Amino acid sequence: MVKTIDSRHELDKFGQWKEEGRYPYLPTITKTNDNYVTTLENGKMLMFGSCDYLGLSQNAYIKNKSIEAIQNFGTNTYGAQIFCGHTTIHKELENKLAFLFDKPSAVIFPSGMAANIGVLSVLATSEDVIINDRFNHISIFMGAELSGAQLRSYPHNNLKKLESILQQSLDKQKRIIVVDGLFSADGDYAPLDEICKLAKMYNAMLVVDEAHSFGVVGPKGLGVAEHFNLIDEVDVIVGTMSKAVGSVGGFVVTNSEIVQKIRHYAPSYTSSRGSVPAVAAASLASLEYMEKEGRKLREKLWINTQYVIDQLHTHGFSTMNTCSPIIPILIGDDDKTVNVANWLMKQGLFTATMVSPAVPSNKGRLRIGITSTHSIEECKQVINLLQKARDIYEF
Ligand SMILES: Cc1ncc(COP(=O)(O)O)c(C=O)c1O
Repeated sequence: MVKTIDSRHELDKFGQWKEEGRYPYLPTITKTNDNYVTTLENGKMLMFGSCDYLGLSQNAYIKNKSIEAIQNFGTNTYGAQIFCGHTTIHKELENKLAFLFDKPSAVIFPSGMAANIGVLSVLATSEDVIINDRFNHISIFMGAELSGAQLRSYPHNNLKKLESILQQSLDKQKRIIVVDGLFSADGDYAPLDEICKLAKMYNAMLVVDEAHSFGVVGPKGLGVAEHFNLIDEVDVIVGTMSKAVGSVGGFVVTNSEIVQKIRHYAPSYTSSRGSVPAVAAASLASLEYMEKEGRKLREKLWINTQYVIDQLHTHGFSTMNTCSPIIPILIGDDDKTVNVANWLMKQGLFTATMVSPAVPSNKGRLRIGITSTHSIEECKQVINLLQKARDIYEF
């Protein structure tokens, strides 16, 4: 199975940070308002660690639709949806997703993780090979493993290696390439144009996880496949409602045959509860809202993103290869990364602290998450605080 704990030391470091009062994880939130989060541990902080890229988790229209769903359907459905049904809201949400991507069918899951595990577990068999970018989300590896297919992976965005694996896999019944559209820790895109060419050349199926790009990238916010004008070429699109959509829940958009297979054979669909009506309603309302207001929100999001990236470069920071609202500030050493994150929290700035196993060892970083609701003044505060932190901690 996929391993996440490499050594005793890996576990100890989190315990040690806790003992020393330097644990930046799992803050207890007492209040969220505008761009601020208040936690028991650090009080009120400017939120720059979020994936709520369009600020929709606080949207009044969406909140009301969620409340209305509880009033109409209660707080849960009767049982696993394949046996006990889903609501008209769930059905409408699936239809809306299929319509947005102009694909025959869609199916929703309680999370993006469940969606990846579910779809990959049914796409392949032991006669096939699944080829992953090494930086793909962990749930893709989990689903691939569950399928029983041979698993191969290539170094991040290394297309030469991808091609050589495809060449070595010509004896397999199916070759399935899986990539994140937008990589969650580095903020860069998969070069889908080139990957699509390889998929065609070697008669491989292509699966793209648009978790962080849905709502954010592309003229209609459909993701990296839309950005490259390649939606028609992608066989399976996976996504989540837990980032830009401001709700929770995963989805798979593809042909009707794969969707039907998922409904009866994917364990994360058949043997787990679906989204509760309130959550499905928030997702549906959010998609409706995005259809009307998404373009405007994305414009603001990308202005903020470009501003922060440009300012960071002007002040000598490396932002790795990001081209998105996920902006990694590489610190390196885990311990130093945690110290910088703690210092920033004490100054009233929240960023996401990422060390191994979330990122490779010694590639610790702060993940800055830009949203359309940030003001340029707030973006300036981030740059100022990062400069001060760098002077103190020398990264
Ligand atoms: C690329 C990618 N896929 C899937 C997921 C899982 O999504 P969810 O949080 O909805 O389970 C994530 C979550 O961070 C992700 O980054």
